[in-house]
Amino acid sequence: MPVQRGPHGCPPCDTEVTPRRDRRERCGPRSPARVNAVLATVERRRGSLTGDAGRADYTPGMARASLDKDPADVAAMFDGVAHRYDRANSVMTFGFDRRWRVTTGRALDARPGEKVLDLAAGTGVSTEEYARGGAWCVAADFSLGMLRGGRHRNVPMVAADALRLPFADGVFDAVTITFGLRNFVDTRAALAEIARVVRPGGRLVVCEVSTPTFGPIRYVYRRFALRLMTWFGRRVSSNPDAYSYLFESMLTWPAQRRLAEIIADSGWKSVEWMNVTFGVVAIHRAWKPHADS
Ligand SMILES: C[S@@+](CC[C@H](N)C(=O)[O-])C[C@H]1O[C@@H](n2cnc3c(N)ncnc32)[C@H](O)[C@@H]1O
Repeated sequence: MPVQRGPHGCPPCDTEVTPRRDRRERCGPRSPARVNAVLATVERRRGSLTGDAGRADYTPGMARASLDKDPADVAAMFDGVAHRYDRANSVMTFGFDRRWRVTTGRALDARPGEKVLDLAAGTGVSTEEYARGGAWCVAADFSLGMLRGGRHRNVPMVAADALRLPFADGVFDAVTITFGLRNFVDTRAALAEIARVVRPGGRLVVCEVSTPTFGPIRYVYRRFALRLMTWFGRRVSSNPDAYSYLFESMLTWPAQRRLAEIIADSGWKSVEWMNVTFGVVAIHRAWKPHADS
């Protein structure tokens, strides 16, 4: 699958994606215990790791969020779909979701010794996939319902809002977001906040719904396939109305190039993207600049 060059140019895939051996050796492996110690320190300094989902005015059970995306509504909506979320997702995407996560995992290429934040991780289904290579991956999400839905998974989980991450500066080698970015209340602010917690030279990998590039496929996808997916989602979900919001948010989400520009404008460099399944999904990848670049 060819990687397309972004608006700001991008390095050849095979040279930049593979972390350099010397860098990994210099950093050395970081154990989960060490990272947990970091997280505990952050918790003491910031008060709570529960983010907005722990707020007193938090109202679980909302039927659906609007595209105004009030954070409490979005968290409540995902709480509402948490039960059976993974199953609904697989049914709705005709099983493609698994393939998209595998491809995203390859683009992320997380290696042993690396620390990866899987943001908007939901039940941790994506985190489990990205940890396969041996990196230490933590799942973060502000829906406690979604996190609870993934309790059975063997990945560390943290309740956190993407706009106010409870982590110190530069602690992660990479951050990845799978089908989460379009739900953030403020995309640019979240991308800037993510850049804060990634070390210089670290990477961002975003897997998100996108716009099929070939006209006839785009027409069929928007006119029929998306509606069919939403219909399936509503049938098997624990909160059918939430799928109407998800449908609308897919239609209004920026196309590949526009998203690349937004990422570049939010403090990331060398943005590139790869279309998957005709561009129904796109995987964007970018790097955090070094201080001297
Ligand atoms: C469609 S699910 C994706 C879950 C998972 N990554 C996957 O691959 O299936 C989107 C997730 O984004 C989370 N989310 C939305 N806004 C968020 C925010 N501001 N901070 C943290 N998580 C957020 C939701 O709670 C939800 O679990």
